[in-house]
Amino acid sequence: MNFNELLAKKTKDAEDILKKYLPIEEGFQKKVLEAVNYSATAGGKRLRPVIMKESFLLFGGSGKVIEPFMAALEMIHNYSLVHDDLPAMDNDEYRRGRETTWKVYGDGMAVLAGDGLLNLAYETAALSFDMAEDTEDIKRAARALKILGRKAGVYGMIGGQTADLEAESDGQISGERLLFIHENKTAALIQAALMIGAVLAGAGEKEIAAMESAASNIGIAFQIQDDILDVTSTEEVLGKPVGSDERNHKLTYVSLYGLEKAKEEVKRMSETALTILSSFETRNEFLEELVKMLITREK
Ligand code: IPE
Ligand code: IPE
Ligand code: MG
Ligand code: MG
Ligand code: MG
Repeated sequence: MNFNELLAKKTKDAEDILKKYLPIEEGFQKKVLEAVNYSATAGGKRLRPVIMKESFLLFGGSGKVIEPFMAALEMIHNYSLVHDDLPAMDNDEYRRGRETTWKVYGDGMAVLAGDGLLNLAYETAALSFDMAEDTEDIKRAARALKILGRKAGVYGMIGGQTADLEAESDGQISGERLLFIHENKTAALIQAALMIGAVLAGAGEKEIAAMESAASNIGIAFQIQDDILDVTSTEEVLGKPVGSDERNHKLTYVSLYGLEKAKEEVKRMSETALTILSSFETRNEFLEELVKMLITREK
């Protein structure tokens, strides 16, 4: 199989794992369950669970203990998008080629669907305890759960979204603030992916720290590319609106440094990540290829 075929297969595997843990639409709370499934099954690259699995494989992991965490991280990512699109945040009406959750179900139900996905995520991740074969497995799952909570929360993704939202209106522009936004709103979940894969595989402390740093570079580059595409792409290709950042007066790499410098940064940071990923005793060629592909991704 060539790289693209492999990527398609791995994406489908991640998608199937996620679907196993999504709710059945029934009961008096049926509406919120519909909204949860609407947002979580709309497609998307499934990048975070895919790279989590690849990090797990890189450090010799085997078995299904990774699967609840793959589903959980994608649920958290999806919740972050449902809330990010709300009128009170980025006020966007399209995502993954269809109407955003709030457009279809209303603001209140979209808030609840996001909350629901977040709780389902931890409930799902905790299922990996049931799969543990010994106390070592339990310790690793507990550590992975802590990483997930930290990187998704106020010291991670939510922290970044907070700074992103504030920067819209107070107009205080600085490179340091911009780096904080990208590092947290986006890189933190990428860090959770690569670190959890490593932790569950039993990687050592040095390797886990190296993966945190590689993921920081990958995640910031990923968000810079997202900012670039918001300016250079089309709604048809992206499946979400373009010009959203300008409309919302966002602080982005493109607005602060310009398009050319932003593109250089994507390349530079991705290369830093690749140097780290190729520094271990074992290699994962697919993961390295994927990071290279992200430099020129068009969606
Ligand atoms: C979009 O993430 C939000 C950002 C952090 C840039 P993705 O580009 O991974 O979105 P999907 O999951 O593929 O739709
Ligand atoms: C979103 O950044 C990051 C999240 C934590 C959801 P953006 O606001 O740029 O993501 P898009 O462009 O709406 O996907
Ligand atoms: Mg946003
Ligand atoms: Mg947005
Ligand atoms: Mg964007």
